[in-house]
Amino acid sequence: MKNKAIGIFDSGIGGLTVYKALKEKMPSERIIYLGDTARLPYGSKSAETIVRFSDGNALFLLTKNVKMIVVACNSASSYAVSYLQEKLDIPVLGVIEPGAEAAAMAGREKIGIIGTAATIKSRSYEKAILEKKPEIPVLSKACPLFVPLVEEGWIDHRVTRLVAEEYLLPLKDEGIDALVLGCTHYPVLKNVIEQVLGKGVTLIDSAITTAAKTASILKSLGWLNNEKSNLPDEFYVTDFPDRFRRVGEIFLNRKIEKVTTASFYTVSLPQA
Ligand code: DGL
Repeated sequence: MKNKAIGIFDSGIGGLTVYKALKEKMPSERIIYLGDTARLPYGSKSAETIVRFSDGNALFLLTKNVKMIVVACNSASSYAVSYLQEKLDIPVLGVIEPGAEAAAMAGREKIGIIGTAATIKSRSYEKAILEKKPEIPVLSKACPLFVPLVEEGWIDHRVTRLVAEEYLLPLKDEGIDALVLGCTHYPVLKNVIEQVLGKGVTLIDSAITTAAKTASILKSLGWLNNEKSNLPDEFYVTDFPDRFRRVGEIFLNRKIEKVTTASFYTVSLPQA
């Protein structure tokens, strides 16, 4: 088990923020990443569709013999994690629980949550935070324009700043002191978000707490890989590998050597 890779899936490229956090926390682990670029965005889709897509993604990663699956996409984590946990016999972790844990620790007065329309509609973060800290007021806001702005590479752009002001100033006026960045793309906008909200608001990046939780799950199972593998990490997408590589390099701030197109809609699992 130790030598097997960790599988991650996302609707596309944004999950690379989780990939990066996993790599920083566990440099010896090999990672197999799947971005479902043919079917993104997930954030505007229904619960049923997100679960169906997530099911296919997990099956694909199982064919790669992974020891654990991390669901990097917040929208998929909101709807599909408990389904996958019940269905699969390897550990499955989403980003909601670890993010909510960090938010409950950081927020003292009022916690803000931003995410895609699907994530906010599910109330997944809100429920998970209130389970840990029932008395804290929570404010949620869908910020659907952030994803296309990041995909366009408009990270430090005046349009992005205007959009951020429109979305976030009302949360600031309400007096939030912590904000959950409940979407894979939002950590890329940390600077702009910080400029709009000021230093008094702690930004919660689920990617970092998810990496810590992944490490603790693998450690408790004795499945942590202590020796660095010679095999490289693998990146798969369901469409547009070149675009994934180009925008992915912005996310990772480094080169991505190879991206393979996976057409897994007809995969069959190897016999046990
Ligand atoms: N990965 C998605 C999320 O974190 C954002 C992009 C999409 O809508 O597919 O919710």
